[in-house]
Amino acid sequence: MSEKESHIESRLEEGKIYPPPKEFKKNANIDDPGIYEYAEKNYEKFWEEFAERLDWYEKWDEVLEWNPPYAKWFLNGKINASYNCVDRHVENGKGDKTAIIWEGEPTDETKEYTFTELKDEVCKFANALKELGVEKGDIVTFYLPMIPELAIGLLACSRIGAPHSVVFGGFSPTALHERLEDSQSKVLVTADGYYRRGKELKMWENALEALENATSVDKVIAVDRLGRDDITLDEERDVYYHEITENQATECEPEKMDSEDMLFLMYTSGTTGKPKGVVHTTGGYLTGTSATHKWVFDIKDDDIYWCTADIGWITGHSYIVYGPLANGTTTIMYEGSPDYPDKDRFWEIVEKYDVTVLYTAPTAIRLFMKWGRKYPDKHDMSTLRLLGSVGEPINPKAWEWYHEVIGGGNCPIVDTWWQTETGMILITPLPGITDLKPGSATKPFPGLKADIYDAEGNSLPPNQGGYLVIKRPWPSMLRTLYEDPERYEDTYWSEYSSDIYFAGDGARVDEDGYFWVVGRIDDVLNVAGHRLSTMEMESALVDHPAVAEAAVVGRPDEVKGHVPVAYVILEGEREGSEELVQELRSHVGKIIGPIGKPAAVRFSSDLPKTRSGKIMRRILKKLEAGEDYGDTSTLRNPNIVEQLKKMVE
Ligand code: WT7
Repeated sequence: MSEKESHIESRLEEGKIYPPPKEFKKNANIDDPGIYEYAEKNYEKFWEEFAERLDWYEKWDEVLEWNPPYAKWFLNGKINASYNCVDRHVENGKGDKTAIIWEGEPTDETKEYTFTELKDEVCKFANALKELGVEKGDIVTFYLPMIPELAIGLLACSRIGAPHSVVFGGFSPTALHERLEDSQSKVLVTADGYYRRGKELKMWENALEALENATSVDKVIAVDRLGRDDITLDEERDVYYHEITENQATECEPEKMDSEDMLFLMYTSGTTGKPKGVVHTTGGYLTGTSATHKWVFDIKDDDIYWCTADIGWITGHSYIVYGPLANGTTTIMYEGSPDYPDKDRFWEIVEKYDVTVLYTAPTAIRLFMKWGRKYPDKHDMSTLRLLGSVGEPINPKAWEWYHEVIGGGNCPIVDTWWQTETGMILITPLPGITDLKPGSATKPFPGLKADIYDAEGNSLPPNQGGYLVIKRPWPSMLRTLYEDPERYEDTYWSEYSSDIYFAGDGARVDEDGYFWVVGRIDDVLNVAGHRLSTMEMESALVDHPAVAEAAVVGRPDEVKGHVPVAYVILEGEREGSEELVQELRSHVGKIIGPIGKPAAVRFSSDLPKTRSGKIMRRILKKLEAGEDYGDTSTLRNPNIVEQLKKMVE
């Protein structure tokens, strides 16, 4: 190992270690580290015990059938997800407990649903769907903002055995069209619009555009969110949600679904071509998400749990809807953005509802850091007892800030690694057991086997960077890609062998067995034969007081293969200068070693981001390579790309 490499590796590890706070450990659901050995040795039994906490119509006769790369869990078990998320809590005397707290963006709009009320709404919508002709097995697409009808809709679909496919409400008409076609959905559920930063955004027009030349949709259900009077429904095709649901019965017999029946489809972008339709099934998914929700977030019956994701992403499916509700947890849904009406909106919500567990993303945390602690400091957030992070590696600086400023220094942070494909959290601390290292998602969930391989499939020793693989099937894993088993096999199970899941992430394990995920493989640079993580360079950049956010990508270089180029958003009113460029270069050089010094630093007011806030480094890379950067219509801020292009030129 070169001097430079060892410098990188020690850098992230030097940080402080955070053991579970005493009080937290004392009350933790899981505080016995022996669970790891138990799960390792009794893998199927371990999962079977979680499955037994759910209500089944018929018990499975086999826990797992593994014909790599195809898995079946809880074979021949019969179960209904909607029943497990709603009815059984009513039957267990929790009918009056709050199931969903919905907070609209307008501050005076909130709604709460008890489990009984939720059951009624779910049944009404399920009955309406049936009346429209939706049958078991028909795919229903949702294109909605974060309104209660979305959560109710998922549960209504799963009640009648109609798999749902949620398309994120911020996606473009083209993206929606493509997903409707691929899934051959018969029904689209959408809305007239929604609120974003006080403005009314139109959604109906997007939906109509997506429906042009659509070949499968014969019914469109419109939720009247904004009360717009400038919309004309197509008499044959379109109906209003409130009209079709109002006179429905509040009872609807749940379908007895096979454990392996499809629960939903979720499209996710691949490296090339059309989006991949990730297929999740019923029994295993519900078992995996409810188990991890309970253990990772240390869920108690009186928790007020808030996951800030959008239900348009897998995080919202697993950890706003299915996991929490299967556990009978009060779950919060927020419609709006974090800076409306002001930059303290999140903290206002935490204070208002006495939130105890908060699950959000590093990109949001960095934004909050940039805005400054005066916003959270306005609010009493002493009810918080556990924090979570997901979506990308969290740089230690942001971790520390989250811990200190939001968590008041005494909330464990669970940094959870997983994917749309994995359905549930796979690498994560257990907050009553795990000593935390800021920036590491720590260890595989009990029983799970993760490893780091080199290109040839050798398991790498500690602290050598390689590819993250999973070596055991897990209950909520994807079963296939919708109508494309070949792509399923190629993408995930062919890099090594058909029983090794290739996650597509670069990572390493340290000497304590902690996983350090550095990001998608295409975020890893090879500079003059050295594997450099863009994340570590970015972390070094944001470590500088002038830097709010940074993205590093490789620019093709004849001699070195690639050289790193840094895109930087400065703090507050700071302005870029040649002097600052040099200062940042040497700052990174100091932290990572000379090879990590960016060849160029580009100051910008913004970066191309997905609607979920992920920086699209792929586009920056294309700009640097002088290549066509392709379609930007699904970005949050498509205009920034042209500006950056000019800058690069
Ligand atoms: C990719 C999956 C799963 C929920 C949201 C994203 C990255 C996710 C972490 C984490 C480092 C992370 C990985 C992964 N990622 N969580 N805690 N630490 N990286 O779902 O869109 O399917 O993206 O997000 O690169 O492969 P997704």
